[in-house]
Amino acid sequence: MTPPATTTVTEPLRLEHAGLRAHLDALDDLAIRVIQSPAAEVVPEITDAVEFLARHVVPHALAEEAVLYPAVDDVAGSPMATATMRGEHVEILERIDALRLWTAGLGDAGTYEERRGHLSAQLHGLAAILRLHLEIEESILFPLLDAGLTPEQGAKLVADMVAVAHGPEGQD
Ligand SMILES: [Fe+2]
Ligand SMILES: [Fe+2]
Repeated sequence: MTPPATTTVTEPLRLEHAGLRAHLDALDDLAIRVIQSPAAEVVPEITDAVEFLARHVVPHALAEEAVLYPAVDDVAGSPMATATMRGEHVEILERIDALRLWTAGLGDAGTYEERRGHLSAQLHGLAAILRLHLEIEESILFPLLDAGLTPEQGAKLVADMVAVAHGPEGQD
């Protein structure tokens, strides 16, 4: 007798989201301290935040566009099912690029003073957009896959996403 399934197809994706979400509160906290604290205290943290976004959020989004969203489109029977989510990715990736550009040269006190308001707004904005984006994926897209994919198809989807995001060995 086959034991009952204890997890859903998208459980690994929800766990990955939980890992990303844990960093979003830190982005909001950093956005506040960018306004309140001297450059020396927060510039290294801004650099770390950009690094996190580039190394984790960007590959996650690219893997979704290559693997997850096509699977959702298939299950939903429409290539438009994920069109709005792809549009949100464009906005998210543009904002990450902008944040990276604004981070260059922040060691200069004058530059930091000039940009701290924009940096704070961008950090808050990214945290808010990402929170909403993850919520929509979890509440609307993931249930479609849970209902429409077999466990084997789900396992392949997750493996394919890891390969796209981190290479065939699943390395970071
Ligand atoms: Fe996404
Ligand atoms: Fe996602």
